[in-house]
Amino acid sequence: MDIENISTSCRFRETTLPRTYVDLPVSLDREAPVALTVQLGDRLRTAMRDGTLKSGERLPSTRSLARQLSISRTVVTEAYQQLYAEGWLDGRHGSGTYVADLVIHAPAARSGSAVSGSVPARTGGGHGTGDGSAPSGGPAAPLPAGTRGRGERMIDLRPGHPWVRDYDQAAWRRAWRKAADLPPGDRSDPYGLPRLREALAEHLRRTRAIAVGPEDIMVTRGTGNGLDLVAATLLRAGDRAGVEDPGYRVARNVFAARGAEIVPCPVDEDGVVVDGLPDDLRVLYTTPAHQYPLGGRLPISRRERLLDWARRTGAIVVEDDYDAEFRYDVAPLPALHGLDPDRVVLLGTLSKSLAPDIGVGWLVAAPDLLTAIVGTRQDLSDRTSGPAQQAVAVMMERGDVDRHLRRMRLEYARRRAAVVDVLGPMVTGDTAGLHVMVELPGGIIPSLLEEARERGVLLDSTLARHHHGEVRRHGLVIGYGSASLAEVRQGVAVVAELIGPRLADESRVAF
Ligand SMILES: Cc1ncc(COP(=O)(O)O)c(C=O)c1O
Repeated sequence: MDIENISTSCRFRETTLPRTYVDLPVSLDREAPVALTVQLGDRLRTAMRDGTLKSGERLPSTRSLARQLSISRTVVTEAYQQLYAEGWLDGRHGSGTYVADLVIHAPAARSGSAVSGSVPARTGGGHGTGDGSAPSGGPAAPLPAGTRGRGERMIDLRPGHPWVRDYDQAAWRRAWRKAADLPPGDRSDPYGLPRLREALAEHLRRTRAIAVGPEDIMVTRGTGNGLDLVAATLLRAGDRAGVEDPGYRVARNVFAARGAEIVPCPVDEDGVVVDGLPDDLRVLYTTPAHQYPLGGRLPISRRERLLDWARRTGAIVVEDDYDAEFRYDVAPLPALHGLDPDRVVLLGTLSKSLAPDIGVGWLVAAPDLLTAIVGTRQDLSDRTSGPAQQAVAVMMERGDVDRHLRRMRLEYARRRAAVVDVLGPMVTGDTAGLHVMVELPGGIIPSLLEEARERGVLLDSTLARHHHGEVRRHGLVIGYGSASLAEVRQGVAVVAELIGPRLADESRVAF
């Protein structure tokens, strides 16, 4: 067969001094069953991995590479876009495409796995065996000083922390200046600032297709605050409150603090398991957009069945819409609240999309229930800071929040791709949010956490911590929100190196 190779020797110029040139041979095989875009992506990835192309080097323009290889420019553009999304390339506005700041330790590709030895996509955990973390899930340790040893930074791969170091400082200052222009108010609206509720209604309509008006919204200090007001309104001592298991421990704590009996409700890869939910729950807390921590997205059919269950039993579903803003390669699914506003209270927060310490979130509920919740808020003298609401309203009205979200979506997509690239098929629950799951045998986790810490990687979130009842599954919840792309690559490469030999030992013991 006559195989026509397309090859060229591209000259890539370093952008930093000294200005040197790299000759990069690229050859594509038109006859191969693999698409040219994929081939080109693979060639460039290999060149970056083996150091032929170095961090900071500039790639040729799509036009010139297409011309040199005699292929369509679309092929080059798509290959660049893919590499950009995976975090290999950096685009500097108006000045071309560059190899990103890469720290590569693992020789892994998505197709294989970075982890030596055979790595099953899933590994089961033994029932009831601890993994070294407190099963009840005490409060997460405070952030470390960020350094270890002689000033070396720890790489923080704990979930639940967004990236707060990259924001539009001018927009931030402008919003707070405008908030400071207003005199302090002594009688804040318990529903929240009307101007902010308008902006939130618009935000929910555009980003979540939820058709609500400002009158359906109460501004909270975040999800925890919203949960507590719902609990204080609906739960009486001894009422049964369902929580996902494994699930978000704050929901358990809040319901328990209000005197409820906690009922752990099992979840699987898709989210909460509806069949078998008890009929006597007063409320059920759930995370359908991205189950915390397993990462499932509740399919539409299950959403419908969940709402049928709630209508039949009279339970109120509390929908934590956390993570809905960050979605990768999957279409959005309608919020539960939109499917049945009477049975569902929706909770949202800026904790992840801006920063946790802004202390602004929202609660959407049917009119009667909202009135009751606002009444509870007044009884408890609970409120959201007026200046904070003003500042957030300004940022939302000017599009600053949308812009930040767009930028961060891209950044998180690249970090998530880096995690998947290094850890390969072990990763699950990665279609949304800022964390992924890696299921592992419970026995290998304590030493893994310890050694990771010694090597500068902070990982404290084990699946066991998120269980309320029996610990049925073990693994690590790996967050990529608060480490840079380079740190994420480096950190997960360490994790991969630590997992490999441990899994190999486990399988030797098993057989
Ligand atoms: C599942 C889940 N929901 C909500 C939040 C945010 O809560 P808050 O708005 O109270 O900061 C977190 C934070 O880690 C979370 O993990």
